Amino acid sequence: MGWVNRRRDHGNLIFLDLRDRSGIAQIVLDKELTPDGHAKGEQVRPEYVVAAVGKVRLRDKDAINPKMETGEIEIEATELRVLNDTRLAPFSPAEEAIQNEEVRLKYRYVDLRRAEMQRNFRLRHEITLAIRESLSRQGFLEIETPILTKSTPEGARDFLVPSRVHAGEFYALPQSPQIFKQILMISGFDRYFQIARCFRDEDLRADRQLEFTQVDLEMSFPRQETVFGVVEQFLAAGFAAAGVKLPTPFPRISYDESMRQYGTDKPDLRLPGLTDVRAAFTDEALAALQMDAALPVVALRIPKVGELSRKEREENHPLFDQKKGAKFIDDFKRLAKGFPEPAAKVRELCGAEEGDFTIVVAGDPAHHIKASDTKFPGRLSEREINVYAAAGNFRGELAKKYADRHGAFRVTEAAVEAAHARGTAGPVDGANLVDGSSAFHPIWLTDFPMFEYDLAAAKWVPAHHPFTAPFEADMANLVSDPASVRANCYDLAMNGLELGSGSIRIHRKDVQQQIFASLGISDAEAKARFGFFLDALEYGTPPHGGIALGLDRIVMLLAGAPSLREVIAFPKTAKAIDLMAEAPTAVSEQQLKELHIRVAPRS
Ligand code: AMO
Repeated sequence: MGWVNRRRDHGNLIFLDLRDRSGIAQIVLDKELTPDGHAKGEQVRPEYVVAAVGKVRLRDKDAINPKMETGEIEIEATELRVLNDTRLAPFSPAEEAIQNEEVRLKYRYVDLRRAEMQRNFRLRHEITLAIRESLSRQGFLEIETPILTKSTPEGARDFLVPSRVHAGEFYALPQSPQIFKQILMISGFDRYFQIARCFRDEDLRADRQLEFTQVDLEMSFPRQETVFGVVEQFLAAGFAAAGVKLPTPFPRISYDESMRQYGTDKPDLRLPGLTDVRAAFTDEALAALQMDAALPVVALRIPKVGELSRKEREENHPLFDQKKGAKFIDDFKRLAKGFPEPAAKVRELCGAEEGDFTIVVAGDPAHHIKASDTKFPGRLSEREINVYAAAGNFRGELAKKYADRHGAFRVTEAAVEAAHARGTAGPVDGANLVDGSSAFHPIWLTDFPMFEYDLAAAKWVPAHHPFTAPFEADMANLVSDPASVRANCYDLAMNGLELGSGSIRIHRKDVQQQIFASLGISDAEAKARFGFFLDALEYGTPPHGGIALGLDRIVMLLAGAPSLREVIAFPKTAKAIDLMAEAPTAVSEQQLKELHIRVAPRS
């Protein structure tokens, strides 16, 4: 039984490709053998649902189809039953690529019949199962936490649900199970996990949905390394389920070092990193080039791009983030004319070869930013970070662009193995960003700053969330020097994507209160927002910590999919709409009345 994928009419013989979840098999309707079946075969169209009764037989030698998994056999039908007909869908699941995503999403049930989508969801199932089993084996209990609850501060807007029983009051959908999982540690469960649905009202992107799924976990008495070990095990199990060997342990890098080497806190190790080329320039040369001698000067190199025309280079300029207070030189011929020594030295330092595209990025002395400009011993300043980030963004954007056009970044297995053998985050040369072939590069990021300065709001905000513990040694600077405080938190990045984020938590109420105070959250506000949690902290809270990984992102990477929408059965569009169910919608006056809600006219 299944769907008619394709039908070929050869007069006395009709061939139906019958499709179900497991694949395709050919049905032969022979007019002599089954006149009735043959007559029905003349009526059926693609996507009709049919049942065929018959015998499986080997095909004639010349009819064998080596491209088809079941190409050596066929079913000689003695009967055909039509179980259902179909309206003509706007596209056929037998097509491989359908361009119009809106049509795919509106007719998602037809889209999901496509072999690629069937494969993605089987993959998702296998990965999830392997992760669940690994966590269970590692002693974690799966416990569900509420969906109708109170706001969790993960930095996004909440989805609110009005209460019918309590007029004017609202539940919030969880942005994550954060507070509840911490309370489960206070409750003595020791190791909790959940494949948890989270809801965040934020702007959508290819790697962001309004509702998504986390592999969420928390444990009592851990060190960072304990959490890393747990994650490495379950992630390796998940990847193994997809046929990918993920060597453990994963390399580690501090936030500052990652900014220096890659200009981002989600480094893509498939590309060459940034190279510090400050030494190539004298102060005079930098002054003449109108570049800030006090800030980093770095080079980025995109291998094997070939010589670019001036026009081609100019087309790249919008990819450079102008707001970071940095500038760049991408015209090496001109640089070499005015500054032959520095130009040669830059090429030498970053190992540029014939056909590589090399760019120098440095600080713009004319640019001033209002954020903290102080330099802390051993730490990067905001302005330094901005220069690295401008270079890192540019590197990522150009890599995507040219990997596509010039087939650059082919990964060599030897390079991957060498990087893992080093156990460090050294740049791995070459990889193909497009086919992503077997090259998955996880990396732990540690030693993040505790706070970030939000320019628009003119205040310090938590870089992770306000329950993250600061490093004991930095506690003294909480109020005097917030920018210098490091957080006991960590991220897991892979191939330029943030896969997960977690921290060792604050387990003492006095510390939690100090953090709220340094974030400008008053006692009254803290009590109103998380009073129940602050109370719980006073009842014998063990030291605890955890992490959450984006399950959709893991599956997206392993499926080689360009967006989360390929691995979520019923996703929202970038405009936050479910095109199939047509949500969101207006509701009846009656329902609004019951919920004590009046809708303001649209302005
Ligand atoms: P965080 O907010 O960093 O941390 O989220 C953890 C991981 O969840 C995934 N993710 C998303 N995936 C798809 N769409 C989204 N809108 C989206 N937002 C986040 C990412 C991200 O790395 N409670 C903390 C974790 C902890 O401290 O234990 C938290 O939620 O892969």
